[in-house]
Amino acid sequence: MIHMAKPQMGDEEKKAVLEVLDSGIIAQGPRVKAFEDGFAELCGVKHAIAASSGTTALHLAMLAHGIGEGDEVITSAFTFIASSNSVLFTGAKPVFVDIDPRTFNMDAAKIEAAITKRTKAILPVHLYGLACDMDPIISLADKHGLAIIEDACQSHGAEYRGRKVGSFGTGTFSLYPTKNMTSAEGGMITTNDPVIDEKCRVLRQHGMRVRYYHDELGYNFRMTDVHAAIGLAQLKKLGKFNAQRQANARFLGDNLKGVRTPHVPEGQTHVFHQYTVRVPGGKRDSLRAYLNENGVGSEVYYPVPIHKQSFYVSDLGYKDNLPETERATEEVLSLPVHPALTPSDLETIVGAVNDFMEKSG
Ligand SMILES: Cc1ncc(COP(=O)(O)O)c(C=O)c1O
Repeated sequence: MIHMAKPQMGDEEKKAVLEVLDSGIIAQGPRVKAFEDGFAELCGVKHAIAASSGTTALHLAMLAHGIGEGDEVITSAFTFIASSNSVLFTGAKPVFVDIDPRTFNMDAAKIEAAITKRTKAILPVHLYGLACDMDPIISLADKHGLAIIEDACQSHGAEYRGRKVGSFGTGTFSLYPTKNMTSAEGGMITTNDPVIDEKCRVLRQHGMRVRYYHDELGYNFRMTDVHAAIGLAQLKKLGKFNAQRQANARFLGDNLKGVRTPHVPEGQTHVFHQYTVRVPGGKRDSLRAYLNENGVGSEVYYPVPIHKQSFYVSDLGYKDNLPETERATEEVLSLPVHPALTPSDLETIVGAVNDFMEKSG
């Protein structure tokens, strides 16, 4: 079976973990600091704060911006549920806008109509490895005095007009094993704002500025040095991993037939966390079954949009109508694109998709 993901763990990661275990400092320590510094450099920002996951990074970012009960945050419903749950954790309300059908990212032209007196932030989700259209989002945030909190959990190293994601406001990243780089579990927050930086660090550690004196309600959202050691080794390989994903995507784009391949807008660098095609004519699920029978893994990210998840409907009363989001959930299929694919894997993927699309007319 050609799987959807394969974490790339080499001797560097193994050696780094053993060094931490031998060092006696296993919880948050010098490797976390080194990983934060390296990650800030990657994104071209002044500060990076490590967290225990992408979800806790998002949660910390919301809290650091003072988002809470009575506030609204504008985002996409076509994403992993952690994006909008992080808003719910604070007592605030996620407000969804529809996506641009070409990029699967939130449609910037729909944001202004969703802004109310209660809106505190825009949460663009850079889905599949492609940045949202940030220029209009920045203009709207400036015009209405809103924060930008980026969900860059799927987009390590992606660029929009020469700037890295995570540098447009407060950035959040996941380091889960399927991501473009991993620390096994982990997350990162990026910012140029020293106030946000300090707030995230304090909230990550039980609201503690001075040892055992607690100024506010905080959490244990720390990363360990064991995880940071893996993350540091992976950070050095991210450029190579992303280049391989891009080369794989190029091959798929040049050879797939009968499906709509990803659109990369001018001035953007897509890092292909996922290679997601649109399958027209209601054939998505039968293509998926055919691929499975022929040894090719695939996945639907995401089959149910967030506003239609059962507890959003029954407990929270969401009734949105988001036609492009809903259409995407029925048509998208992600194919393997990870850096461990061999040329023969790529031929097999293309062969199986093209076979099915040709036979099914
Ligand atoms: C878009 C998006 N946001 C948030 C998350 C949450 O990250 P984590 O799984 O590290 O908590 C993920 C990861 O799956 C994600 O893909």
